[in-house]
Amino acid sequence: MTRESFIELRSRFLNWKAEGKKIASLTAYDYPTARLLDEAGVDFLLIGDSLGMVVLGYPDTIDVTVEDMVHHTKAVARGCKRAVVIADMPYKSYETPQQAVETAKRLEDAGAQCVKLEGGRAILPQIEAILNANIPILAHLGMLPQHVREEGGYHIKGKVEAEQKALLEDALALEKVGVLGTVLELVKHDLAGEISRALKIPTIGIGAGSNCDGQILVTHDLIGYFPWFVPKHVKQILHIGEDIREGVRKWVEELKRS
Ligand code: KIV
Repeated sequence: MTRESFIELRSRFLNWKAEGKKIASLTAYDYPTARLLDEAGVDFLLIGDSLGMVVLGYPDTIDVTVEDMVHHTKAVARGCKRAVVIADMPYKSYETPQQAVETAKRLEDAGAQCVKLEGGRAILPQIEAILNANIPILAHLGMLPQHVREEGGYHIKGKVEAEQKALLEDALALEKVGVLGTVLELVKHDLAGEISRALKIPTIGIGAGSNCDGQILVTHDLIGYFPWFVPKHVKQILHIGEDIREGVRKWVEELKRS
């Protein structure tokens, strides 16, 4: 796949928003899934650090390493011809501007066209350093899964006025420095709509309602490939986990009978 320049990628995101076309994005962590989702017409693929839960079996994203992300980004990039490939920067991999640039470069070398990191004005020096290194960024605001332990769970954001104001100001500050767009996770639906209207860059919602410019989901949640836990906001389209269990159960039974 020919690599789009920062400017080309930026106009792709701005055009999606300007044309009012909903952006469809999903996570991928391996070659076959990336290839199938790419062939199905998804706009961008995220190698999310949700990898920790749905692929590696951790309780949250905290133990995911840069090495894990590099390994899975390479696999996804090999399977993706058309969709934009975006990789998550894992926990503690962007503590300083210098470390942020080093991590972003490793993910870029692995095949990511853009990186995603969690937070607003609190990590602005890291965001600016990555952008100055000419690496595009998708931001992530609202519920930040890398903070789940200190927050004691996944909670809706934007319930009180101070939080609403802070989220809107974060989004505007990120737009100003030049991120391509922002994920809004578990943001109150009316606030997600307000932020989306206030920005020229697209918002990509997850559990943030239908007023965002696009939607992202963890693929395993959408297709039922992690049946032990399904977030409330997900409407499943397939039940792959049940199909595997049932299909393999029949295969085992037939084999034992033969
Ligand atoms: O890690 C992840 O999968 C994410 C979501 C936005 C889907 O960050």
